[in-house]
Amino acid sequence: MSAFSLEGRNVLITGAAGGIGSETARVCAELGATLVLADIEEPRELAAELRERGATVSTYAFDVADRGANERMVAEQSRVDAVVANAGTLSWEDWEEDHWDQAFERITDVNVLGVIHLARACLPRMYRQGGGNMVIVSSVAARMGGLRAGPHYVASKGGVHALAKWLARRAAPHGVAVNSVAPGATVTPMTEGRGYEASSIPMQRLAAPREIALPIAFLCSDAASYMCGATLDVNGGVYMG
Ligand SMILES: NC(=O)c1ccc[n+]([C@@H]2O[C@H](COP(=O)([O-])OP(=O)(O)OC[C@H]3O[C@@H](n4cnc5c(N)ncnc54)[C@H](O)[C@@H]3O)[C@@H](O)[C@H]2O)c1
Repeated sequence: MSAFSLEGRNVLITGAAGGIGSETARVCAELGATLVLADIEEPRELAAELRERGATVSTYAFDVADRGANERMVAEQSRVDAVVANAGTLSWEDWEEDHWDQAFERITDVNVLGVIHLARACLPRMYRQGGGNMVIVSSVAARMGGLRAGPHYVASKGGVHALAKWLARRAAPHGVAVNSVAPGATVTPMTEGRGYEASSIPMQRLAAPREIALPIAFLCSDAASYMCGATLDVNGGVYMG
């Protein structure tokens, strides 16, 4: 079996209905994974598509900012071999606008606290199973202060980078590898119509979601067996570490 195979693994993905999440589900299904797909609304269409191609899929609807909902979903799983903390949100208001503080709180709740809730639910389960992988989807915004996104989003993703390292250090002695993928501008509903310029990217184009999904799937596999606390920068050359 290839080291990249996810055959026989239960892979849980949040934000699975979105651009990067749905493509991650497709790639993981191609690699043989059994999938648990979660989003604010059940990703039923995607699940039907993947089942048609032979994958075993279950779906959940919950807000990742709700700790109890994360825990209930994980409690229903027989195994969790890999978890992809991909759900994320972004809003575009200026920090001089009245409701910016509320937007900051919501973005922090989803992008940072949501990852913590998911990790707190999944990691003890993986420890008991003897190992696993967690992949956190952060952003190039954490590296360079954001191409177009505001300070609330940028701060949340910067927090996620530090958090990924904290989680990695804590989980590694239990056989669980935590790593992150930091995408650059990717063609998804999050960036649509927001004026991202291909000409500002050395590779002269935005990423296709599959180009982010493949590195995420790699970090869920044995091919990444000695990776711990790493951030894979997948950004067409916008940021070179
Ligand atoms: N698209 C980009 O250019 C880009 C760049 C860097 C990082 N990212 C990150 O990649 C991840 C995926 O983003 P995307 O581009 O696919 O965006 P997207 O908007 O297509 O998908 C995000 C998904 O997360 C879900 N979601 C949002 N809030 C949620 C919540 N509270 N609970 C449950 N689900 C929730 C949404 O319903 C949506 O399906 C995000 O973490 C995002 O910050 C995206």
